[in-house]
Parts: sequence; structure tokens; C-alpha cells
Amino acid sequence: MENITAGKSLKVAVLISGSGSNLQAIIDESAAGRLDVEIVLVVSSRPDAYGIKRAQAAGIPTLVMCKEDYANAQAANERIAKACKEAAAEYLVMAGYMRMVLPPVLDAYPNKVINLHPALLPSFKGAHAIQDAFDAGVKVTGVTVHLANEDYDKGPIIAQRALAVEEGWSIDDLEEAIHAIEHKLYPEVLALVAAGRVKVTPDGKTAIAQGA
Ligand code: GRF
Repeated sequence: MENITAGKSLKVAVLISGSGSNLQAIIDESAAGRLDVEIVLVVSSRPDAYGIKRAQAAGIPTLVMCKEDYANAQAANERIAKACKEAAAEYLVMAGYMRMVLPPVLDAYPNKVINLHPALLPSFKGAHAIQDAFDAGVKVTGVTVHLANEDYDKGPIIAQRALAVEEGWSIDDLEEAIHAIEHKLYPEVLALVAAGRVKVTPDGKTAIAQGA
């Protein structure tokens, strides 16, 4: 199948590890003509990630990695950086990617690796942010889109969207609400990036998003 996001202006590689519902949101917004992004490659850290099927259904090339590949994390990151460059990706978009991005990738894409986090950073860093926020009984949480750097979950924040946690919600209710926000916010931020409206201050500490 032909890549249904092809022919758009900003070329990105999307990095996944699981369901890929955020990948799907980007594919759908792009196919609908609301997002000027071409996904030139999907990198999966796991062979069983459902997102690989979503990429294939959209005609997007995939690089599928496995646990053994990450035994040498440096080499795995070199391979990812090379594949993304060969695919002519201009930005890397992490969407549920559960591995660290290391200098071979970060140096190849300085200030051009974007991450999605299901909490309002700097609160609830780490891999279990929704559960951790739920367990803490917070009344407000949300979603963060930020640039990835060597400091895990600490790179410059591009955009955040808050969510009021309603009385009586289960963890499933909270997850559903978080994902609904992610599926809107991530394509919106990528549209700003594609329009050249996201800049980083010279000290590399702050991202400025015009229109976020
Ligand atoms: C999202 O909640 C993302 O914020 C987190 O992992 C989840 C990925 O979901 N890091 P999906 O694979 O895009 O469905």
C-alpha cells in the first residue's frame, strides 16, 4: 500500500513500543489533510507492538527492533539514527516509546526529538505516570509534549493540557480521558512544529510554541 501520509511537508519518524493509538491519531489527522506531516518511518522497540500493524496498514515503512537489539543500547541507537536519516526524517516523534533515546539519536536530531508524557511534567515522571497520578489522588493532571534530551522527562516543554479528575473515576476512566487529550494535543503540536512555530531558546532550556 502507498504511504497515506506521503507528500506532506515535514518528514518525521515515529517511535513506538505498544498500541500505537497516538501514531494512529497522527496518521488520521495527516490523511484528513489537517496535519502537514509525512511519516517516513515507524520504529518499534518491540516486535509484538500493535502499532506496527497500524503503520503497515497506512503503507509506512517500519524498523522493528527487539529486546536483544537493546542489549547493546548504544548500537541500537546508532541503528535507529541511521535508519531515520536514511528515511530523510527531519524530526523524531516518540509516541509510547518505552526505551531511552541516547546520544547517537539525540546528537543526530538536536532539539528535534519530541516526546509525549501522560502527566503534567515535572510531576509524575517515569513509565507509570497515569497510575502514579491516580494513586496520589491528584485533582488535576494532564498531558505534556516536550523535547527529549539526556535528562529523562526533563527536556523543554512545548505544550501542556490539563484535565480535572472527576470524583469517582476509576484508573480506566482516567486513562481514557488522558488518551483522548493526547490524541488531540499531539497532532496539534506537530502542526505547530511543521509550521516552524516551535523554537528553542539559545540556552536550550525553553521551548516557545507560538499558538499552543
Ligand atoms: C501514551 O499514554 C503515552 O503518553 C505513553 O504511552 C502511551 C502510548 O500509547 N508514554 P499508544 O501506544 O500511543 O497507544
